[in-house]
Amino acid sequence: MKNILHIISSPRKDLSASRKLGNAVIEKIQRKYPDSVVKERDLTKNLVPLLEEAHINTFFSPAESHSPEQQSINAYSENLISELQEADIIVIDSPMYNFSVPATLRAYFDFTSRAGYTFKYSEKGPEGLLNDKKLYIAFASGNIYSEGPYQIYDSNVPYVKNVFGFYGVKDVSVFRAEGLSIPGIMENALAKGIDSIVID
Ligand SMILES: Cc1cc2nc3c(=O)[nH]c(=O)nc-3n(C[C@H](O)[C@H](O)[C@H](O)COP(=O)(O)O)c2cc1C
Repeated sequence: MKNILHIISSPRKDLSASRKLGNAVIEKIQRKYPDSVVKERDLTKNLVPLLEEAHINTFFSPAESHSPEQQSINAYSENLISELQEADIIVIDSPMYNFSVPATLRAYFDFTSRAGYTFKYSEKGPEGLLNDKKLYIAFASGNIYSEGPYQIYDSNVPYVKNVFGFYGVKDVSVFRAEGLSIPGIMENALAKGIDSIVID
Protein backbone atom coordinates (compact mmCIF):
# COMPACT_ATOMS: atom_id res chain seq x y z
CA MET A 1 0.00 0.00 0.00
CA LYS A 2 1.32 3.42 -0.97
CA ASN A 3 0.10 6.87 -0.06
CA ILE A 4 0.22 9.00 -3.17
CA LEU A 5 -0.04 12.79 -3.12
CA HIS A 6 -1.04 14.33 -6.46
CA ILE A 7 -0.23 18.03 -6.64
CA ILE A 8 -2.02 19.78 -9.51
CA SER A 9 -1.11 23.30 -10.63
CA SER A 10 -2.42 24.02 -14.13
CA PRO A 11 -5.13 26.68 -14.28
CA ARG A 12 -6.52 24.69 -17.21
CA LYS A 13 -8.89 21.84 -16.53
CA ASP A 14 -9.91 19.49 -19.38
CA LEU A 15 -7.43 21.07 -21.80
CA SER A 16 -4.46 20.74 -19.47
CA ALA A 17 -1.62 18.58 -20.77
CA SER A 18 0.14 18.39 -17.39
CA ARG A 19 -3.07 17.12 -15.73
CA LYS A 20 -3.39 14.42 -18.41
CA LEU A 21 0.25 13.45 -18.01
CA GLY A 22 0.02 13.51 -14.20
CA ASN A 23 -3.15 11.40 -14.29
CA ALA A 24 -1.38 8.88 -16.54
CA VAL A 25 1.46 8.69 -13.99
CA ILE A 26 -1.08 8.09 -11.20
CA GLU A 27 -2.79 5.35 -13.24
CA LYS A 28 0.50 3.56 -13.83
CA ILE A 29 1.44 3.81 -10.15
CA GLN A 30 -1.97 2.37 -9.22
CA ARG A 31 -1.42 -0.49 -11.64
CA LYS A 32 1.83 -1.28 -9.84
CA TYR A 33 0.42 -0.69 -6.33
CA PRO A 34 -3.31 -1.53 -6.61
CA ASP A 35 -4.19 -0.70 -2.99
CA SER A 36 -2.65 2.74 -3.05
CA VAL A 37 -4.56 5.73 -1.77
CA VAL A 38 -4.46 8.94 -3.80
CA LYS A 39 -4.86 12.34 -2.17
CA GLU A 40 -5.32 15.29 -4.52
CA ARG A 41 -4.04 18.76 -3.75
CA ASP A 42 -5.42 20.87 -6.59
CA LEU A 43 -3.72 24.23 -6.13
CA THR A 44 -6.20 25.91 -8.45
CA LYS A 45 -8.99 25.30 -5.93
CA ASN A 46 -8.81 27.22 -2.66
CA LEU A 47 -5.72 29.14 -3.73
CA VAL A 48 -2.72 29.26 -1.43
CA PRO A 49 -2.35 32.95 -0.52
CA LEU A 50 0.57 35.04 -1.68
CA LEU A 51 3.13 35.31 1.10
CA GLU A 52 2.59 38.34 3.35
CA GLU A 53 4.34 39.67 6.43
CA ALA A 54 1.72 38.09 8.73
CA HIS A 55 2.61 34.66 7.32
CA ILE A 56 6.35 35.17 7.69
CA ASN A 57 5.97 36.45 11.26
CA THR A 58 3.92 33.33 12.06
CA PHE A 59 6.46 30.95 10.53
CA PHE A 60 9.30 32.54 12.49
CA SER A 61 7.69 32.76 15.93
CA PRO A 62 7.06 30.05 18.56
CA ALA A 63 3.63 28.39 18.42
CA GLU A 64 2.99 29.24 22.11
CA SER A 65 3.05 32.96 21.28
CA HIS A 66 0.63 32.79 18.35
CA SER A 67 -2.48 34.97 18.16
CA PRO A 68 -5.69 33.28 16.95
CA GLU A 69 -4.93 34.60 13.41
CA GLN A 70 -1.41 33.17 13.55
CA GLN A 71 -2.74 29.85 14.86
CA SER A 72 -4.94 29.56 11.81
CA ILE A 73 -2.07 30.50 9.42
CA ASN A 74 0.16 27.93 11.11
CA ALA A 75 -2.51 25.21 10.98
CA TYR A 76 -3.07 25.88 7.27
CA SER A 77 0.65 25.55 6.49
CA GLU A 78 1.02 22.48 8.73
CA ASN A 79 -1.87 20.80 6.92
CA LEU A 80 -0.17 21.28 3.53
CA ILE A 81 3.09 19.96 4.97
CA SER A 82 1.41 16.95 6.62
CA GLU A 83 0.17 15.83 3.19
CA LEU A 84 3.79 15.80 2.01
CA GLN A 85 4.97 14.01 5.15
CA GLU A 86 2.33 11.29 4.81
CA ALA A 87 3.05 10.58 1.14
CA ASP A 88 5.25 7.71 -0.01
CA ILE A 89 4.99 8.92 -3.59
CA ILE A 90 4.46 12.49 -4.79
CA VAL A 91 3.25 13.25 -8.31
CA ILE A 92 3.45 16.90 -9.26
CA ASP A 93 1.90 18.33 -12.43
CA SER A 94 4.31 21.08 -13.39
CA PRO A 95 3.26 23.03 -16.49
CA MET A 96 5.61 25.70 -17.80
CA TYR A 97 4.25 29.23 -17.55
CA ASN A 98 6.64 32.00 -18.56
CA PHE A 99 9.65 29.71 -18.14
CA SER A 100 8.76 28.76 -14.60
CA VAL A 101 6.00 27.17 -12.51
CA PRO A 102 2.46 28.62 -12.17
CA ALA A 103 2.22 31.20 -9.39
CA THR A 104 -0.04 28.81 -7.46
CA LEU A 105 2.78 26.30 -7.19
CA ARG A 106 5.27 28.96 -6.14
CA ALA A 107 2.81 30.09 -3.42
CA TYR A 108 2.50 26.46 -2.29
CA PHE A 109 6.27 26.21 -1.85
CA ASP A 110 6.20 29.43 0.22
CA PHE A 111 3.88 27.66 2.67
CA THR A 112 5.66 24.30 2.70
CA SER A 113 9.31 25.39 2.83
CA ARG A 114 9.61 25.66 6.60
CA ALA A 115 12.57 24.99 8.85
CA GLY A 116 11.80 22.21 11.32
CA TYR A 117 9.18 20.70 8.99
CA THR A 118 10.56 20.07 5.50
CA PHE A 119 14.21 20.94 6.18
CA LYS A 120 16.48 22.03 9.00
CA TYR A 121 19.79 23.79 9.36
CA SER A 122 22.63 22.29 11.39
CA GLU A 123 26.39 22.88 11.58
CA LYS A 124 26.57 20.76 8.42
CA GLY A 125 24.29 23.18 6.57
CA PRO A 126 20.76 22.50 5.32
CA GLU A 127 19.32 19.01 5.66
CA GLY A 128 16.07 17.71 4.17
CA LEU A 129 13.47 16.18 6.46
CA LEU A 130 11.26 14.43 3.88
CA ASN A 131 13.39 11.42 3.13
CA ASP A 132 12.60 8.07 1.46
CA LYS A 133 9.96 9.45 -0.87
CA LYS A 134 9.68 9.15 -4.62
CA LEU A 135 8.84 12.20 -6.75
CA TYR A 136 7.42 12.08 -10.26
CA ILE A 137 7.30 15.38 -12.17
CA ALA A 138 4.73 15.63 -14.99
CA PHE A 139 6.04 18.55 -17.03
CA ALA A 140 4.25 20.19 -19.97
CA SER A 141 5.53 22.97 -22.21
CA GLY A 142 4.99 24.64 -25.56
CA ASN A 143 8.69 24.59 -26.44
CA ILE A 144 11.40 21.93 -25.94
CA TYR A 145 13.71 22.11 -22.94
CA SER A 146 15.10 18.59 -22.53
CA GLU A 147 17.70 19.37 -25.22
CA GLY A 148 18.72 22.15 -27.55
CA PRO A 149 19.19 25.91 -27.23
CA TYR A 150 16.25 26.53 -24.86
CA GLN A 151 17.47 24.14 -22.16
CA ILE A 152 18.92 27.07 -20.20
CA TYR A 153 15.52 28.83 -20.21
CA ASP A 154 14.00 26.09 -18.07
CA SER A 155 13.33 27.46 -14.59
CA ASN A 156 10.63 24.86 -14.01
CA VAL A 157 12.01 21.32 -13.78
CA PRO A 158 15.37 22.29 -12.19
CA TYR A 159 13.50 24.51 -9.70
CA VAL A 160 10.98 21.84 -8.68
CA LYS A 161 13.82 19.32 -8.36
CA ASN A 162 15.81 21.76 -6.22
CA VAL A 163 12.93 22.53 -3.87
CA PHE A 164 12.16 18.84 -3.32
CA GLY A 165 15.88 18.01 -3.14
CA PHE A 166 16.16 20.61 -0.38
CA TYR A 167 13.27 18.81 1.38
CA GLY A 168 15.29 15.58 1.16
CA VAL A 169 13.44 14.04 -1.80
CA LYS A 170 16.25 12.93 -4.08
CA ASP A 171 14.62 10.09 -6.00
CA VAL A 172 13.03 11.95 -8.91
CA SER A 173 11.72 10.94 -12.34
CA VAL A 174 10.65 13.54 -14.91
CA PHE A 175 8.18 12.88 -17.73
CA ARG A 176 7.72 15.52 -20.39
CA ALA A 177 4.94 16.50 -22.75
CA GLU A 178 7.03 19.11 -24.53
CA GLY A 179 6.85 20.87 -27.86
CA LEU A 180 3.08 21.32 -27.46
CA SER A 181 3.22 24.55 -29.52
CA ILE A 182 5.52 23.30 -32.29
CA PRO A 183 3.76 22.08 -35.44
CA GLY A 184 5.02 18.64 -36.39
CA ILE A 185 5.85 17.84 -32.75
CA MET A 186 2.72 19.02 -30.94
CA GLU A 187 0.54 16.35 -32.51
CA ASN A 188 2.33 13.54 -30.66
CA ALA A 189 3.90 15.41 -27.74
CA LEU A 190 1.43 14.31 -25.06
CA ALA A 191 1.27 10.69 -26.29
CA LYS A 192 5.08 10.58 -26.32
CA GLY A 193 5.20 11.90 -22.76
CA ILE A 194 2.63 9.34 -21.61
CA ASP A 195 4.49 6.51 -23.39
CA SER A 196 7.70 7.50 -21.60
CA ILE A 197 6.21 6.87 -18.14
CA VAL A 198 8.07 4.17 -16.24
CA ILE A 199 7.23 3.49 -12.59
CA ASP A 200 10.28 2.23 -10.71
C1 LIG B 1 0.29 32.19 -20.06
C2 LIG B 1 1.10 31.11 -20.69
C3 LIG B 1 2.48 31.13 -20.59
C4 LIG B 1 3.25 30.13 -21.19
N1 LIG B 1 4.61 30.18 -21.09
C5 LIG B 1 5.35 29.23 -21.71
C6 LIG B 1 6.78 29.26 -21.65
O1 LIG B 1 7.39 30.13 -21.05
N2 LIG B 1 7.46 28.30 -22.30
C7 LIG B 1 6.83 27.29 -22.98
O2 LIG B 1 7.52 26.43 -23.52
N3 LIG B 1 5.50 27.21 -23.01
C8 LIG B 1 4.74 28.16 -22.40
N4 LIG B 1 3.38 28.08 -22.44
C9 LIG B 1 2.75 26.90 -23.05
C10 LIG B 1 2.39 25.91 -21.94
O3 LIG B 1 3.54 25.44 -21.28
C11 LIG B 1 1.62 24.74 -22.54
O4 LIG B 1 0.39 25.25 -23.03
C12 LIG B 1 1.35 23.63 -21.54
O5 LIG B 1 0.42 22.75 -22.11
C13 LIG B 1 0.80 24.17 -20.21
O6 LIG B 1 0.43 23.10 -19.38
P1 LIG B 1 -1.11 22.81 -19.10
O7 LIG B 1 -1.72 22.42 -20.46
O8 LIG B 1 -1.12 21.68 -18.14
O9 LIG B 1 -1.71 24.06 -18.56
C14 LIG B 1 2.61 29.07 -21.87
C15 LIG B 1 1.20 29.03 -21.94
C16 LIG B 1 0.47 30.04 -21.37
C17 LIG B 1 -1.03 29.98 -21.48
